[in-house]
Order: sequence, then C-alpha cells, then structure tokens
Amino acid sequence: TEGRLWGGRFAGGPSDAMFALSKSTQFDWRLALHDIAGSRAHAKALHAAGYLTAEQADAMDAGLVELGRRVESGEFVAAPTDEDVHGALERGLKEVVGAELGGRLRAGRSRNDQIATLIRRYLREEIRLLAQDVDGVISALADQAETHLGAVMPGRTHLQSAQPILLSHHLLAHAWPLVRDVERLRDLDRRLAVSPYGSAALAGTSLGLDPELVACELGFQSSVPNSIDGTAARDLVAEAAFVLAQIGVDLSRLSEDVILWCTAEFGFASLDDAWSTGSSIMPQKKNPDVAELARGKAGRLIGNLAGLLATLKGLPLAYNRDLQEDKEPIFDGIDQLHVLIPAVAGMVATLTFHEDRMAEVAPLGFSLATDVADHLVRQKVPFAVAHEVAGETVRYCEQHGKTLSELTADDLPRISEYLDEGVLAVLTVEGSVSSRDGRGGTAPARVKEQVAELRAARSRL
Ligand code: ARG
Repeated sequence: TEGRLWGGRFAGGPSDAMFALSKSTQFDWRLALHDIAGSRAHAKALHAAGYLTAEQADAMDAGLVELGRRVESGEFVAAPTDEDVHGALERGLKEVVGAELGGRLRAGRSRNDQIATLIRRYLREEIRLLAQDVDGVISALADQAETHLGAVMPGRTHLQSAQPILLSHHLLAHAWPLVRDVERLRDLDRRLAVSPYGSAALAGTSLGLDPELVACELGFQSSVPNSIDGTAARDLVAEAAFVLAQIGVDLSRLSEDVILWCTAEFGFASLDDAWSTGSSIMPQKKNPDVAELARGKAGRLIGNLAGLLATLKGLPLAYNRDLQEDKEPIFDGIDQLHVLIPAVAGMVATLTFHEDRMAEVAPLGFSLATDVADHLVRQKVPFAVAHEVAGETVRYCEQHGKTLSELTADDLPRISEYLDEGVLAVLTVEGSVSSRDGRGGTAPARVKEQVAELRAARSRL
C-alpha cells in the first residue's frame, strides 16, 4: 500500500480503473508545499499534546524541511502508485525519517481537514498575486487616462451615440470595476483566514490537539468553529471562482471596447505590434487577439464557477469525494488569469488613441440634443417642454442635413420660439462636456479629480 493511506481492512488493492479514477496527484501535487507546511504545524501540535517527544518532533520537522527541499528541487515527485498528494508525501517522509517516525504523523488528522486547509492556504497565496496582476491593468488604464486628459469621444448607450464624453472618463470607467474586484479579493482573503485543521474526518480530533496552534503556525487568523463545516464547506472556493469569473467579465467588457475601437469603422485606437497578431492569408490584418482571448476566457471562467456550484448543490454533510472536483476548475481559473491579465495590461498600456477621429465623430448622431434641453431648463423652461423643443431641433437638423453644432442664429426662430442665441454656445462638444461638472461627471476638472481619486483608492488596496 505504498503511497496509499489505507488498506488494512481490504483483502486486495483497487482495480486499475478504480485507481485511475481516484488518483489526483496529476493536479493536487501543486499543493505539496502547503501540505508540508500543514504537516510541520501538525507535528508541533502532536508534540504539544505529548504524542511526539522533543527528539522525535525535531527529527520530524527536519525531515519535513528536507522533504520540502526535495519537492522544490524536483528530486521527489509523485509516483504512479501514489493516490494523492497526501499519500505521496507520507511515502516521501518515510524515505527521509524512516517508517516508524514517519508513520506517527497522521495521528489525529484526516485528508478531509488537510485538503480543506490546503486549498484555503493556496487560494490566499494566489489571490494576493492576482490582486497585483489586476492592479497592473488598473495602473495602465489610469496612465492612459492621464495622458489623454482633454480628448473627447462619443459616449454611447445601446451602442448608439448618446452624449460626448472624455476618453479619460471612459477609460476610468473600466478601472473602477477592477478596483472593486481587488477589494473582493482582499475581503475573501479575510474569510479564507480560518483554518479547518483539527476538524479531522468531520467530528474533530480526540487527541487533545490544538487547532488554534496549527492555525497560527499556518498564518491563519483562527481555526474553524465547526469541524463539520470545516471539512464540508467549499463556499469559499466557489466565492473565489466567482471573483475570478467577475475579473474575467470585467476584462472582457474592456476588451470588447478595444475590439470595436480598433475597427476601421470606429478608427478610435490602434494596437501595438507587440500586442496583436497577423493573419496567415490576409497581409493587411492586425488582430486584437489579446482582447478576444480575454472575452473567450471569461466564458471559461464562468463555466468553472457554474460547474463548481452544480457540484456542491446536492451534497449532504459532511465530506464527500465529489469535493475533489473543486480543484481543477479553480486551478484552471487561477492559471488562466495569471496568463491573461498581464497581456491585457500590456495591450492597454500600448494602445494608441486617435484623438482627431474621436473628436470628429463625437458630435455625430445628434449627441448634443440633451444640451439643447438642459440649456432651456437653465432658462427655467419645464423639462418636458425642453425635451420636445430639443427633439424638434434634431428633426430640423435631420431635414436640413445639418449637425446640431452646425446650427446658426438664423435657424433658431424657424425651429422654436423658445430658442435664443445662447444655445449656440452649448452646442459644441467642449461646451457639452464641460457642462457636466457634477461629481463623477465628464467635465475635465472632474475627470482630473477622478484620476487622483483612483490613485488614492489603489494605494488603499
Ligand atoms: N483528494 C481529496 C480532495 O481533493 C482529499 C482526500 C480526501 N479523500 C478521502 N478519501 N477522504 O477532496
């Protein structure tokens, strides 16, 4: 039963197909160093409770350190006969400290509390790295926003021209959701800081081991208040999968804008050569593959979350082997984002914006119509009337083949008695943008403030 942690009550070993199904080293090996950290903490608890003498505890700890070194250097790897990371490492420990001492470590713990602890510890480490990655995209967006302060563009709702806005305002609108994603990761980190070690199989340990000692050794804030919950719960893994999916979705929405902006029809931006790809047949092509892969991977991340929730929904308490199915989707999500996010950051940082083109199309689609209405409201005309007059103004322009900014004083009385020459002053893209000067609005002074507010928010993350 080398590499297998059970066998006494079985007359024979598992069939090949049973073993192939059960085996998890091909994906849970990445938890090996966390498992060794857990074992070192557990050995301390065993010593504190009198199950290891000081000499045994020292030898055990030195053995675990040596095993960790062998794992890191690749000298020790899972063997084809190892069922899971836990079995493989016990085999490795026995190789280092001998079977007698090595066989003492497993007292008072179960793979159920072990795996529940390892996945939390692993996720804490990974989401901190992810938070840094996400901050790289936020930083790229903030830098572009700062560089292009003052540049205008058409703002859209329903993808139709709505009102002119600042390009910086739009870029920052992609940064704030990512700030919230990092906050979500920080918040989740606090919930993950509770250690299930000591829950044993489900009912807790009978050996007087101190779960708080283990929790503290492993960098957790405390141990779980309920051993059944400690071994059976995977909501925190699902929550991590949600935040990963949300990050994917936020990057996907940003990417969709980039894809549109880089079309010939929009012409708002161009991709840097280093962050785009060519076509094997069409020589002119420069494709936004980073953005498209972001959009594609968002779907995959949503699938990982949905699959995990489906796995959890019908499980009775406490541990069920179904829970092993949490690993691959969450590992996959982490791996995908580690590859994706730096590429998105690079793509954003190197985008070239075509300010003239954006300024040219900003007033199209009668995007200044709201400014006509707002102007009349400032003259104390009721908004319902102002809306009607602004609508008539658009209709007049349409009939005469003009944009709103091309109207002259002669046109006004032919449209409505309500219109005075003062309206012409607001019928410019710059006038429109500057007039939206409430907090959060697109006026240049406000957007400048917002860049500073974003930098302050980042420093608190
Ligand atoms: N590999 C399992 C998992 O990922 C942990 C081991 C628990 N196995 C068991 N037979 N109790 O959840």
